Amino acid sequence: MTTPEAAHRALGTSATTAPLPRPVSREGPAHVPAQPSPPTDPGTAPVRTLEPGSGHHRPALEGFLTTSAHQEPGRDHVEELVRATPLRRLLIDVGAGEGSDTRRLAPYFDHVTAIEPSPLLTEALRSACALTQAEALAADSLGTCSQPGGAHRAHPVIHLAIHPLCHDRPAHRDALRRGAGVMDNDPTHPAHDDRTAALRLDEKTMRMLGGQVVDALVEHIEGLVSRPVLRRPSEETVRDLLAEPLPAGPEADPAALLDEVTALLGAGNAHPDHPRFLAFVPSPGNFVGVLAAALAAGFAVPTGWRFSGPVASAIESAAIAWLMELLGLPAGTGGLFVSGGSTANLTALTAARDLTVGPGAPGGTAYFSDQTHFSVHRALHILGIGADRIRRLPADRTQRLDPQMLADHVARDRRAGLNPFVVIANAGTTGTGAVDPLPELAALCRAERLWLHVDGAYGAAAAATAPGRKALAGLDLADSLSVDPHKWLFQPAELGCVLLRDPARLRTAFGVDLPPYLTDRPHDDGPGVDFLQYGIQQTREFRALKLWLSLKVFGAEAIRAAVARGIRAAEDLAAYIASCPGVEPVTAPSLAVLTFRCTAPTGTRLPADTEDRTTDRVCRDLATDGYALVMPTTVAGRRVFRLCTINPRTTTDDLHAVVTDLRDRWHRLVKEQTSR
Ligand SMILES: Cc1ncc(COP(=O)(O)O)c(C=O)c1O
Repeated sequence: MTTPEAAHRALGTSATTAPLPRPVSREGPAHVPAQPSPPTDPGTAPVRTLEPGSGHHRPALEGFLTTSAHQEPGRDHVEELVRATPLRRLLIDVGAGEGSDTRRLAPYFDHVTAIEPSPLLTEALRSACALTQAEALAADSLGTCSQPGGAHRAHPVIHLAIHPLCHDRPAHRDALRRGAGVMDNDPTHPAHDDRTAALRLDEKTMRMLGGQVVDALVEHIEGLVSRPVLRRPSEETVRDLLAEPLPAGPEADPAALLDEVTALLGAGNAHPDHPRFLAFVPSPGNFVGVLAAALAAGFAVPTGWRFSGPVASAIESAAIAWLMELLGLPAGTGGLFVSGGSTANLTALTAARDLTVGPGAPGGTAYFSDQTHFSVHRALHILGIGADRIRRLPADRTQRLDPQMLADHVARDRRAGLNPFVVIANAGTTGTGAVDPLPELAALCRAERLWLHVDGAYGAAAAATAPGRKALAGLDLADSLSVDPHKWLFQPAELGCVLLRDPARLRTAFGVDLPPYLTDRPHDDGPGVDFLQYGIQQTREFRALKLWLSLKVFGAEAIRAAVARGIRAAEDLAAYIASCPGVEPVTAPSLAVLTFRCTAPTGTRLPADTEDRTTDRVCRDLATDGYALVMPTTVAGRRVFRLCTINPRTTTDDLHAVVTDLRDRWHRLVKEQTSR
């Protein structure tokens, strides 16, 4: 890296500092230190004030660039204009000779560098390319080139307000804008009002901020394993977020703001993509899906209606067809992407209600096991099926819905004059991964003319693999199915999918007569699907692109292998637990969920509720440490540890370490309690 001295020598420049007192009443943005140090000579003093640390680092300096102004009109206004700019950190004064602004302006800035005019600099100011060089050298001389981070940070960007006098010189202005990362948040910039009103950033800034976001994402993903899975934000952070007033004006330094947001997101939430996030159903995600989400949002892709989004409609249909093929579902099946499993269940159950008992659902009764996800109960509530017509049946010893018990309840309700219409079966319960006996339930539903909805939000993805398809035999018999690619198909939220054996039924349930502004269109729609007629939403995120692009980039085999890895991980872990002293399996691995418990040392007898409380406490302690996230659940009335192993980043070592950690903590706590 060029040393400051070398940079000055190369430029033939000198650094000057104006030892003027800083004006007392300086109103600056919040990030300007209240008691700034006096301006220092960048040639001799360390001026790297923007170091990483204390919360976040800034990838860029912000400052003000002025050119030699002595021959220009309007110089009297310079000080006033400088005072108005929020960019206070760096003054680069080009042409700091007679009439230089440096001495007058220096007090307003934390750091000042003045550069004599030179042939090189004149050239630099004549074209964007050369200006970039000047920018780099000037920044280098301030010691900012060594900022850590990704590629864009290797080229320090100085956010510069354009000297008002430069506005009169289009060549300078354009060069600055293209070459120097000029922020048009300079309120003195003539284009400022227009841009702000149109909510626009200039091209350079968009590239710079976009690069910063990509870097932050890559750093997050690459660094996940070495960071805590969960860190709670301080109460103060939460209070500040809650109390922050509506920002009235623009942010002076969006780059620093993005850094702050990145730090908040990194440190203030759990990370469901972390390899040791083993609670609930993790969201491993994948980077291609993230990029697809950005593309979908950035291109403002219309998705509801094929007239305005023919490519979007085709990609969604193709992604659904690929998903069906991946899961081995029958030809003709179809549906649409929705926000997640809860919406998929609601969408499917709406169709089930409308096509069996009708929208009013007179006497309509619904059946499912007590292991079923709460979104099913909520969906039925939304659909007007009251609690008195919801049969939440106790699961059997294997956590599955018993077909005989179901048949008995259906018969009893029919005798009571009710109108049974739907059975909701699980293709992988959230609690233990249990798969209800789908073939038997399908046969019963056929015989009783009941709609069979299968909630495979978490587990249906397993059908992408041979062992999973075996475990999920009968999945193809469902009238409707929910599956969440944002769970075990590694997509970022939100990406759920509702599939119907006869997708036309969705159109029957949700289709409406469109108003004239949607029907009077200038040309024929061509082939494709108007997805707005198949579900709840009109304006929809172009979610399909996430799965479509991921499948294209990685290929179906990679996805199958990643799913298979999750199934294998649960099986291997079960074998480890069986061989590990002090722990024992409770429910066998089902798809990619297993449960186990710790066993008290021989001779130690503890009341069941003490053991249960200890299990809960151990999970809380582990989460507080941030090493792993494991949530307990209840099986047969007892608290047990539950692990969901779908994240392909999770290693065998991670899993073994978490189990032994839980066991050691549990035994330590038990020992403390029994020795009291
Ligand atoms: C079996 C099952 N169904 C439905 C849902 C709800 O899905 P979402 O959170 O995407 O709405 C979940 C969530 O974990 C689930 O595991």
